[in-house]
Amino acid sequence: MTADLEKIGLPHIMLRMRIAIAADHGGFSLKAPLIELLKQDGHEVLDFGAFNTERSDYPDFARAVGDALQRGLADRGVLICGSGVGACIAANKMRGIRASVCHDTYSAHQGVEHDDMNVLVLGARIVGVELASEILRAFLGARFNGIERYVARLKKVEQMERESCE
Ligand code: RB5
Repeated sequence: MTADLEKIGLPHIMLRMRIAIAADHGGFSLKAPLIELLKQDGHEVLDFGAFNTERSDYPDFARAVGDALQRGLADRGVLICGSGVGACIAANKMRGIRASVCHDTYSAHQGVEHDDMNVLVLGARIVGVELASEILRAFLGARFNGIERYVARLKKVEQMERESCE
């Protein structure tokens, strides 16, 4: 059944997830269309703003999305800023957050399959709505494959998180 659905390009509808999403002013234009797509695909959306285009600070949005994941309120996160870079740097400061900028579909699914990426970061000044939608579906359709060597690498990452200097 799953294989059949994957063949016709529908893996993203297999699991309804709770998605925390946020964007600063630089990412604002992509947030509404991506929320619409998420809802269409049956996901539950937690929208942490911004709710207007006034200048804002990407770390505030990274914190809100990271916090939702850490508290178990969301299964995955989506962050959008101008380039994706600032929000990604900020999100990765949070324990248990594995965020990456992905502007191609291969990285978006491979990042989950190999690295258990839990936050997708997009740059609204880099990708348009259509590509961003495909990237988002690739991210949400992917699952961590749990292969031993990938788990071992993640353990090393967690160790770095625990042992890094204050
Ligand atoms: C805002 O101008 C911009 O710096 C921000 O959205 C983001 O691109 C930072 O990485």
